[in-house]
Amino acid sequence: MALDVANDNDLQEKILAENRRVHALESSLYLERHPEQTNFFQTGILNKSLDRFCAELGHQESHILELGCGTGFLTLPLLKRGHRLTGVDLSHDMLRVLRKKISEPAKSRVTLKASGVEDFLETDSGTHDAVVLSALLHHLYDVESTVQRICAKLSAGGCLLIFFEPLKQEIASSLRFTLHKGIARIDESVYRLEMRLRRIPLFEEDYELSDYQRRFGGIDPNHLHEILRSQDMEIIDTEKYCSRRYGLPAFFATHLLGTENTFNLLAKKR
Ligand SMILES: C[S@@+](CC[C@H](N)C(=O)[O-])C[C@H]1O[C@@H](n2cnc3c(N)ncnc32)[C@H](O)[C@@H]1O
Repeated sequence: MALDVANDNDLQEKILAENRRVHALESSLYLERHPEQTNFFQTGILNKSLDRFCAELGHQESHILELGCGTGFLTLPLLKRGHRLTGVDLSHDMLRVLRKKISEPAKSRVTLKASGVEDFLETDSGTHDAVVLSALLHHLYDVESTVQRICAKLSAGGCLLIFFEPLKQEIASSLRFTLHKGIARIDESVYRLEMRLRRIPLFEEDYELSDYQRRFGGIDPNHLHEILRSQDMEIIDTEKYCSRRYGLPAFFATHLLGTENTFNLLAKKR
């Protein structure tokens, strides 16, 4: 038993170390390398999700905790909407890029902390109006205990937005899945060509453990629902759709094929 605990700690440390390393490599051109987060289809989803999230929050200048904030995919639009943010990320390099993107007037409304979420949640003594995270959970060794700890940090009525996570799911129709694989292959080939032409390296060989939850097929929102409900959270909305590098294939796969590989979840503390 003691040996298992030692092995678990070892694996967790390896995942953290690889996340630090790959995000140092990715930091300078992070969102350029990930057009699946910035294409028109995903931007529409992001804007709608933030509208909904801000409406649930109810007040204009909430204090939001953002975990795994990276180079500011959620931080920057939330600052534009007038909120105050504490952004936490494991990677100094991602935070360095984010710092440069924050406008002078918004700087007084942001605090950035370089830390793993696991350590941060253990040591942070405050409670928050809201917690947001985008594309973080699938990088973690232990999603369940992290989500439980996040819920404990929310004040009553506080909101949690889990955004852009890989969806773990059964294949509903093999025909639609095959068509989707065809779209995905073309989408990915064009992306690789674009990255090569723009001389943006992809660092694929550097990834082994850092997307840890992808090894289990992604994150199951139903499992998250169970964890959240056990923490006195009400599920407000779960949105599932198909993300692709480019907007048109994402739109086509989501609306015509009905295939899904990504989800967002909004919940509120009772
Ligand atoms: C896929 S990136 C997403 C960044 C940003 N949220 C976005 O949506 O563009 C994942 C981010 O989580 C950070 N990260 C990974 N594991 C972490 C951990 N255990 N604690 C804190 N941050 C972590 C990485 O450094 C990286 O910035």
